[in-house]
Amino acid sequence: MAIITTSDLTKVYGRDFVAVDHLNIEIEKGEVFGLLGPNGAGKTTTIKMLTTVLKPSGGTAVIDGHDIIRDSLAVRKVIGVVPQDLTTDEDLKGIENLMMVSRFYNVPEERARETIKELVRLVDLEGAMQRYVRQYSGGMRKRLELIAGLVHSPKVLFLDEPTLGLDVQTRSQMWKHIEEVRENLGVTIILTSHYLEEVDALSDRVAIIDHGKIIASGTPAELKASLRGDVITITVSSENDVEKMLEYRGATEVKDLGGNRVRLKVQSADREMASLMNYIVSSGISVTGINVQKPSLDQVFLEYTGREMKDEEPGDFRSMMMRMRRLRR
Ligand SMILES: Nc1ncnc2c1ncn2[C@@H]1O[C@H](COP(=O)(O)OP(=O)(O)OP(=O)(O)O)[C@@H](O)[C@H]1O
Ligand SMILES: [Mg+2]
Repeated sequence: MAIITTSDLTKVYGRDFVAVDHLNIEIEKGEVFGLLGPNGAGKTTTIKMLTTVLKPSGGTAVIDGHDIIRDSLAVRKVIGVVPQDLTTDEDLKGIENLMMVSRFYNVPEERARETIKELVRLVDLEGAMQRYVRQYSGGMRKRLELIAGLVHSPKVLFLDEPTLGLDVQTRSQMWKHIEEVRENLGVTIILTSHYLEEVDALSDRVAIIDHGKIIASGTPAELKASLRGDVITITVSSENDVEKMLEYRGATEVKDLGGNRVRLKVQSADREMASLMNYIVSSGISVTGINVQKPSLDQVFLEYTGREMKDEEPGDFRSMMMRMRRLRR
């Protein structure tokens, strides 16, 4: 059952800058849905409309039965938001921040304390509650932000760039915590990211968004499968062996790359490997190297947009200005 349905959700900034362009998505109850796109794709704008911070210019969305425009108060009660910019107060202790948010949501004190206790345990912040947030590391701060969005036990949680600015190791720790939140609380999660691995690791389904439009959607596996297969590159020791490799019939595409290297495109490397090895052994081919490349969402993005997904779009002056404004705040 869909818990979020958007219909032609649109945002126009100024006179004619279309940041979100007739977005139609359905998000199922209990799933983790990833919105993936480069800087300026319209992810935050989408989240802001869904969380009733920003009024759509056109279209609407329904969350848990409530319309985001007509029924925004009801929507706010069932959602939790962890915005892209940090919101917790550095001059308060961890626990003070969480209690403050709880009061803001009118959670009775007793229940707030219980919920907070569970959340703090979920993200391993037990030792940090009595410390000032100013002393937190970047990863701890992000974890605190994560649970601050959950103190009122929302049905839907929005995470806008949950690991932005974290180093690789801290990022994968954060993934683990997000997984745990989902498993233990059964909350529906909508997350945005421009890290492909992140969306790949966490999401049940993904929509790739570029210039405010969905250009591809499906499970990460489906999106990768749409690239039709894995690539196996085999290095052999002689020209003669290259000739023999080119006669292999189990691949959808076989190509001589030169330098005694042959590239095979196969449906699934896992499934193909045994018969490939058989062929190599029975044909007496001497292999010096083998490399398997699984399709990534990186490739999916490239395939659908013709562009690589970079962190910064060099020509995009507007998004650079936005970024600077954000930093100054
Ligand atoms: N208040 C605003 N006024 C004018 N233009 C805006 C405003 N907010 C965002 N934009 C523009 O709308 C587009 C989408 O911005 P948005 O912040 O939604 O992108 P994003 O996908 O979240 O990007 P990022 O990955 O950088 O967070 C960008 O080109 C941005 O410059
Ligand atoms: Mg954003």
